Amino acid sequence: MTNDILTLLSQHRSIRQFTDQPLTDSEVTTLVTAAQHAATSTFAQQYSIISITDPAIKHELGNITGHHWLEKSGHYFILVADQHRNLEIAQKAHADTTILRSFDKFLASTFDVAIATEAIVTAGESMGLGSTIMGSILNNTQRLIELLNLPELTFPLLGIAIGHPAEQPDLKPRLPQPLMHFSNQYAQPKDFDSQLATYDTHISDYYAHRNSHLKKITFSQHIVQELGRDPKLRAELIQVIKQQGFNVE
Ligand SMILES: Cc1cc2nc3c(=O)[nH]c(=O)nc-3n(C[C@H](O)[C@H](O)[C@H](O)COP(=O)(O)O)c2cc1C
Repeated sequence: MTNDILTLLSQHRSIRQFTDQPLTDSEVTTLVTAAQHAATSTFAQQYSIISITDPAIKHELGNITGHHWLEKSGHYFILVADQHRNLEIAQKAHADTTILRSFDKFLASTFDVAIATEAIVTAGESMGLGSTIMGSILNNTQRLIELLNLPELTFPLLGIAIGHPAEQPDLKPRLPQPLMHFSNQYAQPKDFDSQLATYDTHISDYYAHRNSHLKKITFSQHIVQELGRDPKLRAELIQVIKQQGFNVE
């Protein structure tokens, strides 16, 4: 079975090099509209999108993420978990707003942000644009909250650098489905080790032969390498989420 949407989804790759051509206002509106039509938990629309057009803020985002290439993207979005708007709505009605501060509502905002983010990425790809989702904005959320003037019950979750692609990276192979798709209960296959070894070879071949940033690493080594990150980086995340008014104990 194939169709244009399945083909588009199976051809996704993150794009980190862009031409100088900025997105038009109309393209930006189209992407935001695509995000808005994504499903949203309890129809609460509990996220906001901030377009970053100020070069000084983009530069600071480059410092925070370590990804200065984002400054050359055609457009930059930040997706923010947002219960603040619904707090204002509820306060007008003199309603009890306690639940908006709950972990459950924080989680609902993160779902909304993630789904809206993917809608922007996919809509962009359907328009010939390329993008990279950026969790690295979480490297300094305190600074980001100041930069974006974020009020209580909001929290910045993901950035998206998007633009006209100036690269076409090779497709990154995903896990064999028996290692990640189960029936009825969680159950890794009996030949887990050999399936993983095959995938490790597949990934090391991909990294050794792809058209840029060649390296020598298997998937298993990549997973272990990621564990070596400085634990102090982002250690304050939970404190900052609390400071924004969420009860995430
Ligand atoms: C939640 C999330 C956060 C990410 N954060 C970053 C990031 O900060 N920097 C980056 O270069 N790529 C980031 N990525 C992109 C992933 O590295 C990329 O999707 C993954 O390596 C698979 O490659 P592909 O998208 O080209 O298939 C992120 C992706 C997701 C879903």
